[in-house]
Amino acid sequence: MSEPIVVIQEQTAAALERIAGASTTAELREAEVAALGRKAPMSQVKAALAQAGPDERKQIGRALSEARAAIESALAEREGLLRSAEDARAMQRDRIDVTLPGRRTPPGRPHPISMMIEWLVDVFVGMGFSVAEGPEIETDWFNFEALNMHADHPARTMQDTMFVQGRESTLVARTHTSPVQIRSMLATDGPLYIVAPGRTYRRDPFDATHSPVFHQIEGLAVDRDVSLADLKGVLTEFARAVFGPKQKVRLRPSYFPFTEPSAEVDVICPRCGGEGCGPCSRSGWMEIMGAGMVHPNVLRSGEYDPAEWSGFAFGMGIERIAMTAWPVGDIRNLFENDLRFLGRFAG
Ligand code: FA5
Repeated sequence: MSEPIVVIQEQTAAALERIAGASTTAELREAEVAALGRKAPMSQVKAALAQAGPDERKQIGRALSEARAAIESALAEREGLLRSAEDARAMQRDRIDVTLPGRRTPPGRPHPISMMIEWLVDVFVGMGFSVAEGPEIETDWFNFEALNMHADHPARTMQDTMFVQGRESTLVARTHTSPVQIRSMLATDGPLYIVAPGRTYRRDPFDATHSPVFHQIEGLAVDRDVSLADLKGVLTEFARAVFGPKQKVRLRPSYFPFTEPSAEVDVICPRCGGEGCGPCSRSGWMEIMGAGMVHPNVLRSGEYDPAEWSGFAFGMGIERIAMTAWPVGDIRNLFENDLRFLGRFAG
């Protein structure tokens, strides 16, 4: 037997063995290249054909094409086997049980504070007020000065302030929503009826009724001949919408630099209906906000002439209203985002 024929037989046997042993389609591709590729020994034999005599060339040519046919059919057969094994493995791995119940994605819902803001704002919108907004970082002028609280005014210490760039700076995290009064007056000619909900900041440590970050709603009405009776009328309407149709409102004299006269606003304690209980300190009344007639200096800061215009303003803490209306025992519950607590306030 001529030497090329021996090479062909040996190579064919080796190729068939390698093909039979391939356990992945990648290994099979390697076996194919090794047996039939350009650098394969059998391809070298083919290149040597030119030097052989006519008879031998015929023999070698036949042996080559038989070898090639045997290798190709072994490759095809092995590939079929491997592919179906791989498909079976993939089917096993990616199998999904269509009978399993789906994973539940609980629907999101607004935070109770957002729900409360929306509710309270709606009550005022129903009375003809529109919604105004202002920045949470304010200048000293808007937060204090324009509201009749000058630099050495003792009332500044009533609202312990967070300064944004140290003590010297005139930028503050607003301590109340009252600066929106000034911004709204400067932005519009009267008459003006706005409510301004938003976040406020004070250096009050967390306890059951205080949070360093909390929310207020400011109210401001400026018109010709606005009186304290109008203020009481609006607040009574508000109290009845929020705390029940039989509610009463009591204005207790108080002090704010930006209103004159000023009042603390009380409603009949919603817990005990006026009987007197722990949360209302046995008084039968619950304080819900501060209010008063807009001070002439504040009207001037907003470029309104106090000879022509008068107004009332009020400001309430939203968390405190939520604690009274729902009720919530501890303000911290409203900030801890415990889903078991939040889940009680389905919209
Ligand atoms: C003011 O902030 C005035 N700007 C309200 C006002 C507006 C009066 C317009 C007159 C006219 P006061 O400091 O009392 O007032 O705060 C108002 C409400 O914010 C309080 O009644 C309380 O409900 C709430 N509040 C104050 N500090 C905190 C705190 N640390 N955590 C939670 N709520 C607070």
